[in-house]
Amino acid sequence: MVVIYPGSFDPVTYGHIDIINRCAKKFDKVIVSVLNNSSKKNMFTVDERMDLLKKVLENYDNVEIDSFNGLLVDYAKKKNCSLIVRGLRAVSDFEYEMQMALVNKKLAKDIETIYMVAQGEYSYLSSSIVKEVATFGGDISCFVPKVVEKALREKIKGGQG
Ligand code: COA
Repeated sequence: MVVIYPGSFDPVTYGHIDIINRCAKKFDKVIVSVLNNSSKKNMFTVDERMDLLKKVLENYDNVEIDSFNGLLVDYAKKKNCSLIVRGLRAVSDFEYEMQMALVNKKLAKDIETIYMVAQGEYSYLSSSIVKEVATFGGDISCFVPKVVEKALREKIKGGQG
């Protein structure tokens, strides 16, 4: 069984990696897909985000890194996949996730969204929080792998943060 784990991943954090790691154990294949048309202002380009994902997930044989634009359900159909996985960190995620799942269900009734509850130690984590802490010189080593930390520091130093 194949699942798609979509998101912005700007940048990938240990919270995302936890979900991917658990999915990789339960499913035959996990397609981690970076959203390419986000209305969010991203720090990293899609290629940079994919590159970081590839680096931190290089030891997984059954994880593919990809990107998509347009509707997630159209992308899922194109990939022949009927299962979307999302992480739930706290009750505050629920309303947004429920809205997305219901819209997706309306658009494509055969595609299911399933949720994985984030581990408690990551329930407060978000890419924005990591970027903010890094911008002010805080220690982010417990939030992201070394390669992501380095990329963040370089971006911030280059004035693109
Ligand atoms: N651990 C740590 N952080 C997590 C996390 C986890 N397990 N799960 C989510 N997050 C964080 C992300 O870091 C991100 O933080 P940020 O806002 O600070 O960047 C935030 O939660 C939510 O981001 P993400 O999971 O990347 O979702 P998104 O809202 O950026 O994008 C898509 C969600 C890609 C699934 C959705 O926008 C989409 O499907 N877009 C395509 C258009 C479409 O089909 N629309 C119709 C359906 S509504």
